[in-house]
Amino acid sequence: MKEDSNKSDTNGFTRRKFLRGAGITTAGSVLLNTGLLAADFHSAPETGIYMGPDAVTVQMQINGQMEHLTIEPRTTLATALRDHAGLTGTKVVCDRGSCSACTVWIDGKPVNSCMTLAIDVGGREVTTIEGLAPGGNLHPVQEAFIEHDASQCGYCTPGMIMTCAHLLKENPNPTLEDVKIATRGNLCRCGTYPHVFKATLAAADKMK
Ligand code: FES
Ligand code: FES
Repeated sequence: MKEDSNKSDTNGFTRRKFLRGAGITTAGSVLLNTGLLAADFHSAPETGIYMGPDAVTVQMQINGQMEHLTIEPRTTLATALRDHAGLTGTKVVCDRGSCSACTVWIDGKPVNSCMTLAIDVGGREVTTIEGLAPGGNLHPVQEAFIEHDASQCGYCTPGMIMTCAHLLKENPNPTLEDVKIATRGNLCRCGTYPHVFKATLAAADKMK
């Protein structure tokens, strides 16, 4: 029997509320660094209307294209993107909000897509790693990652690039310290950090 993911326990706490809170917290290092408030993103009002457990249709703009995804309400944005929209560039590594490998932008702000319910993204604009390279033209950060050998196994790379590209969007002249702070939530088990920092600073120069 499927569990109703929106059902409250005796304290009124729901899985949906947990995911919202966790998504905010884990993206916090990036959001705080850029001066953005997590609350800006999670502004959808509580309607008191529960959906599911059957599939529902969610509409969202993904990389500039309107998509209608039929998903169970418990589906995370990461799963919706990978398994329903066919955008497998977004990687799921920890699946619990601790590594930021799954970082995408919602309305231009970085979030952990494994900790965000897709139904909470309805009507919003999602940008994935594929969206940084429209028509196959790589973003300067993507080019710099190649030039500076900033990827090894590659699992953290899409999320790392989404974080670094967001930094440069908000701050075109970052210092090394700025890059370090921006990427502090993105874990790389291969230890590519020095190359990531160099690549991001090089991309900033290139974008001037
Ligand atoms: S934070 Fe989402 S996969 Fe690790
Ligand atoms: S390149 Fe392997 S985890 Fe970062």
